Amino acid sequence: MKGIVFTEFFELVEDNFGYEMVDKIIINTDLPSKGVYTAVGTYSHTEIVILLMELSKQTKVSPGELLRLFGHKLFDTFKNSYGMFFEKPTSSFELLTSVEEYIHVEVKKLYPDATLPSFDTEMLNEKSLKMVYKSERSMSMLAKGLIEKSLEHYEEKGEIQMTPMNEEGSIVEFIITLS
Ligand code: HEM
Repeated sequence: MKGIVFTEFFELVEDNFGYEMVDKIIINTDLPSKGVYTAVGTYSHTEIVILLMELSKQTKVSPGELLRLFGHKLFDTFKNSYGMFFEKPTSSFELLTSVEEYIHVEVKKLYPDATLPSFDTEMLNEKSLKMVYKSERSMSMLAKGLIEKSLEHYEEKGEIQMTPMNEEGSIVEFIITLS
């Protein structure tokens, strides 16, 4: 997992729960990287999961909810750091469709060691988009947060229906319906 995910995660923790919480989860988890992550480095996915579980334990906020909030934060980070991906799309559906076809393809070229999910996207009708999330990392709640922010970015409103397709949550169907 790219270092940017970790540095943004710690910023989320600091902004929402204070600097002491950053220290606390690093000390309590005692991970190989010892809380030292650089934006360009690559680290084990397990480390973010352990940090997330510890944060959930300390704050009593569920891991899923924390991931969704993290999705909101990452959306803003992506907007600031990778503005070029937001230039062409004129709606949330255009942006979301471009994640699989273009954005993550370019991300992979920039960072060949990035571990990205795949999305099968299909327009069901002009108001509904189906996206099937697939990733061994089972971070669909992060995707949910990113989808929510995509709607907000284009000042659109809608409902996001989420259906897990297996036990592990590695395949999850999203149906986004604009109101
Ligand atoms: C400009 C927009 C975007 C950029 C630059 C971007 C880039 C990235 C990067 C760098 C990672 C981390 C990969 C790693 O740590 O190895 C990532 C992961 C991820 N991205 Fe994107 N992304 C963008 C938009 C989106 C959107 C809109 C969605 C949701 C529909 C999405 C879904 C995800 C998910 C769920 C992950 C976590 C990894 C996983 O589940 O396997 N991304 N993305």
